[in-house]
Amino acid sequence: MYVLDSNNKTPLHIQLYQAIKKDITSSYKIGDKLFSIRKMCNIYNLSKTTVSNAYSQLVIEGYIDSKNRSSYFVIENNYKDIDSSCFNEMNDIKTKKQNYDYDFYPARQEKNSFPLKIWKRLSNKSLDDDLDYCDNSQAQGEHALRNEITKYLIRSREVKCDASQVIICHGFDDSMLLLSKILKHTHTSLAIESPGYKLAKDIFCEQGYLIDEISINQNGIMLEHLEKSKSKVLYLTPSHQFPTGVSIPIKNRLLLLAWAKKNSALIIEDDYDSELSYYNRPIPSLQGLDESDSVVYLGTFSKSLAPSLRISYMVLPKHLLSAYSNLSDSKHARVSLMLQNTLSLFMKEGFWDKHQRKVRTSNKRKHNLMKELLLKKLQDTVIIKSEGIGLSLVIDSKEEMDFNLLHSLALKENIKIYFIHDVAIGTYDGIRMGFGGLQEEEMEEAITKFSKVWFLALKQK
Ligand SMILES: Cc1ncc(COP(=O)(O)O)c(C=O)c1O
Repeated sequence: MYVLDSNNKTPLHIQLYQAIKKDITSSYKIGDKLFSIRKMCNIYNLSKTTVSNAYSQLVIEGYIDSKNRSSYFVIENNYKDIDSSCFNEMNDIKTKKQNYDYDFYPARQEKNSFPLKIWKRLSNKSLDDDLDYCDNSQAQGEHALRNEITKYLIRSREVKCDASQVIICHGFDDSMLLLSKILKHTHTSLAIESPGYKLAKDIFCEQGYLIDEISINQNGIMLEHLEKSKSKVLYLTPSHQFPTGVSIPIKNRLLLLAWAKKNSALIIEDDYDSELSYYNRPIPSLQGLDESDSVVYLGTFSKSLAPSLRISYMVLPKHLLSAYSNLSDSKHARVSLMLQNTLSLFMKEGFWDKHQRKVRTSNKRKHNLMKELLLKKLQDTVIIKSEGIGLSLVIDSKEEMDFNLLHSLALKENIKIYFIHDVAIGTYDGIRMGFGGLQEEEMEEAITKFSKVWFLALKQK
């Protein structure tokens, strides 16, 4: 006997369908007959439509069949329903964030730095009545946002471009993957700085490119080594070399562009954090110096605004635009319309410039404080290998140190530290001491705790 409840939110025909399905899969045999529709109506005092709908659903799903829609019989009883009791939050344990006392993550800002109030107001404003949210938004990115990004890049990074060259992407990996597809028909290898950003190498590797690692020195990539490379695509971080922090002087920038021109090569300029420069004005982009359309410029909102927004952009030379639009990947927007509209208002109404000034000032203070504390607490055992830009300092020990030991000792103290070798190719190593996510007031305590672990690791090496 089935218990059906007409006050229940689930419609009666679904209740009946679920009850019969349960019976079929638990106790019916193939060929068993179900009651006729009329008999079911009589027994349960249901309308013919209710019973017919329940039976039709079972027919569509393949549990029962009928002879002339008069008698129904079971044709399949072997089904295991999803056991919702297996859902266990513990299964998700790996993706849960651990709460450390101090987390020196090198690519985040403090939670309170996000302009939440303004963002909420602009999000609301971006829900404009005139917009058709059911339409497919522009695949390359909303024109208004591309326009704002263009104005910003011309004004502050001396990039030469118009909005038709800008593609809105969801992060560096998305921009690089898209580029690897754009270049696939014409190129087979990628030259990359060594040490250099591992993710850039991995993305191109996964797309089948050969990788040519080119050494760097204090002036960035070594041109004499590049000259020997067969690769005609070069990935670079010219303003703030990842991970060494060196920047390419103007003379070498011009030589690089001459190399690109002579070889009809392409340079991918990753300008990921130069807006957070503390000692000097950001160095103008390489793209802006180029006169032969040989630079792809990549930028991101992750460092100065928020990594969780997942918004980056790429400026393509005009000759690559048709290769981009021929890709199946160029048919749909990569970032939601609402997010794009909010960001474009944020830029248009002047908040982006103000926000940048604010985060530059506060992070400069944290940068200086962290440097001072590291030198004070670690004294002459530490070398600062990279400083002055971004959200972290790179340090190393003057004496030999076992980084694995340092890492595990730090974890025991509930401190999380990050190493270059996890994110970079090559043999260069160091500890990336992120300051952006820490509050100024907790910095002294954080570095004191870290220094205890540091000296312990030095003693136990
Ligand atoms: C070398 C480098 N390039 C680019 C990025 C930007 O990455 P995304 O825009 O995916 O946050 C980062 C972020 O840390 C980076 O370290």
